[in-house]
Amino acid sequence: MDVKKVISQMTLEEKAGLCSGYNFWYTKSVERLGVEGIMVSDGPHGLRKQATGGDHLGVNGSVEAVCFPTASAIAASFDRDLIRTMGEALGDECQAEEVGIILGPGVNIKRSPICGRNFEFLSEDPYLSAEMATSYISGVQSKNIGTSLKHFLLNNQEHRRMSSSSDVDERTMREIYLAPFEGAVVNAKPWTVMCSYNKINGVFASENPRTLTDILRKEWGFTGYVVSDWGAVNDRIAALKAGLELEMPSSRGINDKRIVEAVKNGSLDEKILDRAVERMLTINNKYIENRKPELGYDKEEHHQLARKISSECIVLLKNDGILPLDKEDNIAFIGQFAKTPRFQGGGSSHINSFKITSALEVMEEAKNITYAKGYHVAEDKIDDALINEAVEVAKKAKVAVIFAGLPDSFESEGFDRSHMSLPNCQNKLIHEIAAAQPNTVVVLHNGSAVEMPWVSEVRGILELYLGGQNVGAATVDVLFGDVNPSGRLAETFPLRLEDNPSYLFYFGEKDTVEYREGIFVGYRYYDKKKLDVLFPFGHGLSYTTFDYSNLKTSADTIKDTDVLTVEVDVTNTGKVAGKEVVQLYIGDKVSSVIRPVKELKGFEKVALNPGETKTVSFNLGKRAFAYYNTEIKDWHVETGGFEILIGKSSREILCKKTIIVESTVALPVVYTANSSFEDVMLDPKAMELCKPLWDSVASLFKDENADESDPIKMAVIEAMTEAMVKVMPLRAAINFGDGSITYEQMNEILEKINKVS
Ligand code: BGC
Repeated sequence: MDVKKVISQMTLEEKAGLCSGYNFWYTKSVERLGVEGIMVSDGPHGLRKQATGGDHLGVNGSVEAVCFPTASAIAASFDRDLIRTMGEALGDECQAEEVGIILGPGVNIKRSPICGRNFEFLSEDPYLSAEMATSYISGVQSKNIGTSLKHFLLNNQEHRRMSSSSDVDERTMREIYLAPFEGAVVNAKPWTVMCSYNKINGVFASENPRTLTDILRKEWGFTGYVVSDWGAVNDRIAALKAGLELEMPSSRGINDKRIVEAVKNGSLDEKILDRAVERMLTINNKYIENRKPELGYDKEEHHQLARKISSECIVLLKNDGILPLDKEDNIAFIGQFAKTPRFQGGGSSHINSFKITSALEVMEEAKNITYAKGYHVAEDKIDDALINEAVEVAKKAKVAVIFAGLPDSFESEGFDRSHMSLPNCQNKLIHEIAAAQPNTVVVLHNGSAVEMPWVSEVRGILELYLGGQNVGAATVDVLFGDVNPSGRLAETFPLRLEDNPSYLFYFGEKDTVEYREGIFVGYRYYDKKKLDVLFPFGHGLSYTTFDYSNLKTSADTIKDTDVLTVEVDVTNTGKVAGKEVVQLYIGDKVSSVIRPVKELKGFEKVALNPGETKTVSFNLGKRAFAYYNTEIKDWHVETGGFEILIGKSSREILCKKTIIVESTVALPVVYTANSSFEDVMLDPKAMELCKPLWDSVASLFKDENADESDPIKMAVIEAMTEAMVKVMPLRAAINFGDGSITYEQMNEILEKINKVS
């Protein structure tokens, strides 16, 4: 289709009409010109195609599909290829169901563990989020199906999500919240981006020219179209001008009329409308021209894929030698989730799974598995009869496996959690079973971190997250060692909610949420504060052991324009095959800006047989070392030492090496009379010229009576003088110095140092 030609034949009304949905899920068509509408659907971890009765909260039914593990689970796989495979499967399902765009992935950063929608988001770390999203998008789009990277931007809570303003400073926005979108847009080129409901520093995300046009299109080169979150449009004309092409769902003609009026009265340039239509039709045609519903897909095959993916995402949090279990042993499965697992979250991502497999069902044939319900899922009411029954069942077995987790009523789209606990009835059950049965394992079904008051009472803990419809089979695979667990936490589990950096101001005041913790989100905060955590970012155990050796870098000193190659050997030193997630963090050793202790900048998942060694390598470019400098409005690397840290988690670093990175960008410096000596000292040449000023101030601290023959005393005086003088402004040389410097002399020096810098 010649899109430009078709647009030139459209009436103003037809063009305006294309800027909003036909109904809940379809874009409009213009039949007389052969323009077809396409269907879009949620997403992200399965297909929620609503053939009838559209809604954005998962209330009405949808066609049967396959529910894969949710985002918090798949991020824990740290496996790019696996997520790409999942994306391909979703692309096939979309093709079969004639859905042109799947609404995902969601890359909003997990600012707090209690965001109700964390299960749909990938990580607290921007690099990991960007990498996982890139794989998902590439997988889906390889099938000629579009994705919608969401929710752009700063939608990190559900509370008042349609009206609150997320107020964030520029550096934090760049380093933490924009970065996952940036990585995914630049690397994977999603067909669409979905703007969020909230405001960004006071301006609705749906009508924010800075994010939608300046950053997304001009800086990152986005060429697709922007769709509103369902109902996120506030002012349709402002939104169109800012760069929001498609309003969803239908505004029942109201906003289409407004667009027509605005063009007619000259407040909207028709060219903006034409451009929006062109962008939408160009993308939609990519699907229309490559539609292949006849290919269909094999649901059972995808069910098995869901099992495999889920098993690769499971994180072994604790193992006191109890896991894997022996299939011959008498084992008690305790807890309703053994029978009816919680495997997905509530809201717009709710999938109508064609089949659900529970762990109990998988073990049906086995004579040695007993079961007790243990707790109610529907309400958090302690039922002593159920607990007593479960304790009896647990006592008779060799091992008790408790299937616990958050019920739907605790976490969902639409509201946030008010605490980080499991239901009381489950915590009590775990305490009591652990007291009666020394061999107790807990298996968790939850979308985000929970507190574990019983952590030291049980011998093993498996974190399944919300593992998709075949989570039961995946759990059995890992429990009995058919699959060696290889998931790693994509978020920190704090000891308690109060430790979280956003705790004091998470919900904000009325409609303003200030992100006062700045860049210190997740492990960036816990590390800097040296806080103990329950389980750190990147943590996850295996049934085998791994050794790291031979850390090498391609150079000891590089320029910030070079690429550094880092290599490390990893050996499986245990008895079974397994997969290790090798994590690379970087820490700036000395910095004039406040930076995290370390940040994830690379990871690789490697499969190793017992005794096998593989060399893992990473390529690090400028961004790996940079922070966002708001003065030059760009990423910047300060010359100096950087630590390359390689390890099994953010808190288990096994090898490190320092390298020097030299900056090729001189920051503009203008010294004034109020610049401190400390600032000038960063440039030795400028400091040399300032020596007379320094001496003038330093002389003030001279102790006439000091005993110059006492070297220790003299060194102390010198150190104190330096500490005090360096934080003084240059002008102190005049009004605080020994009188040897005049204004004219100081200005002359200032002129000189501004020339040399
Ligand atoms: C959600 C989106 C979703 C849309 C359509 C909204 O409420 O925030 O993530 O894609 O509904 O269901």
